Amino acid sequence: MAGMRILIVGGGGREHALAWKISRDSCRPELFCAPGNAGTARLAENLMIPASDLDSLVAWARAARPDLTVIGPEAPLCAGLADRLQAVGLRVFGPGRSAARLEGSKAFAKEIMEKAGVPTARAARFTDANQALSYIRSQPGRVVVKADGLAAGKGVTVCDTPDEAEKAVEDALVNRAFGEAGREVLIEERLEGEEVSVLALVDGSHIEMLASAQDHKRVGDGDTGPNTGGMGAYSPAPVLTPAQWQAVRRDVFERTIGELSRRGITYRGVLYAGLMLTTGGPKVLEFNCRFGDPETQAILPRWRGDILPALMACADGRLDRIKLDWTPDACVCVVMAAGGYPGPYDVDAPISGLEQASARDGVVVFHAGTRVSGGEAVTAGGRVLGVTALGADLRAARDRAYEAAGLIRFDRAHYRRDIGARGLAR
Ligand code: AMP
Ligand code: GLY
Repeated sequence: MAGMRILIVGGGGREHALAWKISRDSCRPELFCAPGNAGTARLAENLMIPASDLDSLVAWARAARPDLTVIGPEAPLCAGLADRLQAVGLRVFGPGRSAARLEGSKAFAKEIMEKAGVPTARAARFTDANQALSYIRSQPGRVVVKADGLAAGKGVTVCDTPDEAEKAVEDALVNRAFGEAGREVLIEERLEGEEVSVLALVDGSHIEMLASAQDHKRVGDGDTGPNTGGMGAYSPAPVLTPAQWQAVRRDVFERTIGELSRRGITYRGVLYAGLMLTTGGPKVLEFNCRFGDPETQAILPRWRGDILPALMACADGRLDRIKLDWTPDACVCVVMAAGGYPGPYDVDAPISGLEQASARDGVVVFHAGTRVSGGEAVTAGGRVLGVTALGADLRAARDRAYEAAGLIRFDRAHYRRDIGARGLAR
């Protein structure tokens, strides 16, 4: 596989982690990122094409003929970028538009799960506000209101009271707070338990599960404050027992992929199941049609050996030939965020200490929201860095990650101090 060229679409921490891992493959591929960030700039050629500009991405790929395109974010997947690249004869890691609906439409995902017998929260769908409101009043327990479509992580309201649920319904269906994405809402029973992320490579029929991970979605220590895109992650997540792991493989992944196949939909890429470990077993909260962010930053450093053969095999429908191998070491990723995040946040703050932090044992600093300005890295997003460390166990990995984070400075930086705490409490 000499002289391979790989295009990575996206510019967050997940894409830097993918670029970092792919760059270490034995074939030493030539990498391109669109648009990338200050971290990927050191491993790849950053193309000045945003992940949302499908026409320019296809035009670039038609001319440059990458051996593989790895699509990071959900929006271009749901918009059909994989289909368009395949249509011009290119190999793609990532599902086509019809398969990406597992993330792009929560109503579709629920329909598939119900049909396939995948354990998930009970739900009802509404486009009419009055019907939704009377359904809420008829529910014995607490509910979660979800906009059907992609709403940049803001379309889900986990409600404590019926009043909150009614407000969420009105925001989506009457005030159109999420535009077309909220034309339909799902009202789900609210599940209780610990959350865990399980991702699997899928080639249309074969499934290879990746190491488990746990995300930390709230901005504050002890899971307090508003939701974010994810403030940190660790892998493995010891909360998932080996028996539950097998159950997730069979009852979630095999059933879901089977039901899609019955409908003539081929899922190729990575399928992410966000699970709640309830007293009645693991249940699916959501599907994502892509790698998690920041879960990927905590998972990929544990992957032993080359990654491209697996990504290629996925794209080619030959995943049965691949065996994945994980280091028993634990990995912790601490997200350093910009002042203000998850609200309106600062940008353009110079970042110092990156070299010192990266030089420490077992540490990799993944860039998320950064860009190069005057030869230096400055902040350019809400989640700025994912300071990541491997260690012999979770405690050692966590200590290394926090020591490295302590060396990095930018104005009004903030991060959670308890990444991995749930795993350590076990
Ligand atoms: P989603 O965008 O569907 O992943 O939802 C975002 C977050 O909302 C999840 O990570 C959970 O923390 C929470 N959530 C979603 N669905 C439920 C549910 N049925 N019960 C409890 N929490 C939920
Ligand atoms: N970390 C949550 C996500 O990637 O959706």
